[in-house]
Amino acid sequence: MINTETRILGILGFPLGHSLSPLMHNRALQSLGLNYVYVAFAVARHFLADAVKGLRGLGVAGVNVTVPFKEEILPYLDELSTEAQACQAVNVVKNCQGRLVGYNTDGPGFMAALTEAGVTPAGQRIVLLGAGGAARAVAYQLGRAGSQHITCVNRTRGKAEQLAEFITGQTGVPASAAGWDEEEVEKAVQAAGMLVNTTPVGMFPATREMPPVNPEWFHHELVVCDVIYNPAQTRLLLAARQRGLRTVDGVGMFVHQGALAFEIFTGCPAPVKLMREVVVGELAR
Ligand code: ATR
Repeated sequence: MINTETRILGILGFPLGHSLSPLMHNRALQSLGLNYVYVAFAVARHFLADAVKGLRGLGVAGVNVTVPFKEEILPYLDELSTEAQACQAVNVVKNCQGRLVGYNTDGPGFMAALTEAGVTPAGQRIVLLGAGGAARAVAYQLGRAGSQHITCVNRTRGKAEQLAEFITGQTGVPASAAGWDEEEVEKAVQAAGMLVNTTPVGMFPATREMPPVNPEWFHHELVVCDVIYNPAQTRLLLAARQRGLRTVDGVGMFVHQGALAFEIFTGCPAPVKLMREVVVGELAR
């Protein structure tokens, strides 16, 4: 029942066609009997500043932030959490009586998914594919968790170099950079304990695509992770599973970033199991 007490949450991005956040959050809110409604704010880029002012003006309780605004929204916020500040990227904004506070639950969501899968990055050599916002959030947490070394591999090599500098500067973990098709990628994968794809390569609808790593390089101890959740089984993960390797798909990260956001918004523990069921059910449809 929507009434005068109903508080508004939402997702801010563009386009929002395939987002599962409204469904996942509304079902979670309803299951706890919380008087909130979660809506989609598909905002054109030139209206971003107006949209953020509107959050304050209308007393919107909070929003998730997604592509393409995770970095662009920073100048409009009043305060940032430690993670958001370090990563210069925000996926959650909470409205604290007119003060907009930015958080980043993408990295912590990824770590929660690893923990759930029994995967420990401490002491591991890691190959990270991609050098965008998602890569930065994931790399920051992997560095803080005490990984041994991170190789950043990216189509645009300069961005991989910047990410490697960011990792060492923020976490002290040694990091190196490589271009998408460089020879050292093979050596890095062979020496790694974890391979993590943070690029959209393989995401719906281009599900036949795969990052340029050859599954023949994979050894039996390698854990392969993908932040893509649609499809849950990307070609990369399928190739790893066919070789009997452990894999971690992006559903866990998506659910946990949402659960952490839910807790920031409402102050209530998130119904994580239900949220996962909603996402898995919807992906299966
Ligand atoms: P996100 O917030 O999801 O990380 P992003 O910041 O736009 O999004 O970063 C996307 C990352 O995926 C980048 O590292 C990008 O590579 P470039 O730096 O070369 O642009 C990578 N990426 C996106 N599409 C790609 C493709 N088709 N092939 C290879 N890399 C791709």
